[in-house]
Amino acid sequence: MIADISAARGAALAQIEAADSLESIAALDTQLLGKKGSIAQLKTKLGGLATVDEKKAAGQAVNEAMQAVSSALAARRVELGTAATAARVEAERLDLTEFAVKPERGHAHLVTQSWERLEDVFIGLGFQVAEGPEVETDWHNFEALNMPIGHPARGEWDTLFLDHAAPGEDVGRTVLRTHTSPVQIRTMLSGMPPIYIVAPGRVFRRDTPDATHMPVFHQIEGLVVDRDITMADLAGTIEAFTKAFFGADFSSRLRPSYFPFTEPSAEFDIQRPDGSWLELGGCGMVHPNVLRHGGIDPEEWSGFAFGFGIDRMAVMRHDVADIRDMFVNDIRFAEQF
Ligand code: DAH
Repeated sequence: MIADISAARGAALAQIEAADSLESIAALDTQLLGKKGSIAQLKTKLGGLATVDEKKAAGQAVNEAMQAVSSALAARRVELGTAATAARVEAERLDLTEFAVKPERGHAHLVTQSWERLEDVFIGLGFQVAEGPEVETDWHNFEALNMPIGHPARGEWDTLFLDHAAPGEDVGRTVLRTHTSPVQIRTMLSGMPPIYIVAPGRVFRRDTPDATHMPVFHQIEGLVVDRDITMADLAGTIEAFTKAFFGADFSSRLRPSYFPFTEPSAEFDIQRPDGSWLELGGCGMVHPNVLRHGGIDPEEWSGFAFGFGIDRMAVMRHDVADIRDMFVNDIRFAEQF
């Protein structure tokens, strides 16, 4: 009898262990603990046992078996319930990863970065920032800068002329400014010296884009007009700028050159720590005719000016192989800087 009870108990526990759903647990519950269950069936046979001791022992074994089955059912029910909840949660899961990704932060364009750093350095040297229009008169762009109509130097600038004229003016006397130098004239005409300004801006030339040229590019102009300004002030300013912008281990030099709006004129180069020289821009003492066109008496005042490309600074600083890459706005290029 005891052996039968133990066998029935073992079989019941194995069934419970094998159950894989809450439904089959519910079915086993009725089947194993109900009146027709294998253990309950054995209980009905207790009366046929010979001795009281045998009845007592068998009765106890039946009760223990029922209890074991009952608690095994309860334990398995909890187990399967937890798994079912987990499965349901997994099935209902919403994928919110898209919203958890940090949004990409943009940054200023390479040229804007150089532009702003140049402004910062010159402001640090005591300059103010000035600006002028991109659509300019022939007079401001050329004539006032000591290049009257027919002056051969005009050919140096591949000018884009506008099919437009002010009343009484010839078509073609309005241009897209070819350099930032006309801001010199506008600044002189708008106030009296002392003048210490830089004028960064966009300039235009009739040029085919290639690895080192763009028809639209950027320059920064400098103009100082004060009493007793000499070439030494120009050289000192270029040197101070070079050290402030590139670093203390860089230096500068002036080389004689020619520009119609300065006399004498020079080109300035910077020397890298490895000893190599790099041509940066033009400069010189403001020509007396230019001061006069700006409404300033060259007997009383003197000045210097300089101008150079901003895009080239960005290209040099970041080793950009092709200047065009800076303007196609490919995010894979832009995000490297
Ligand atoms: N405007 C000149 C250019 O576009 C650069 C330049 C040279 C500017 C000499 C100056 C200067 O102010 O003094 O090539």
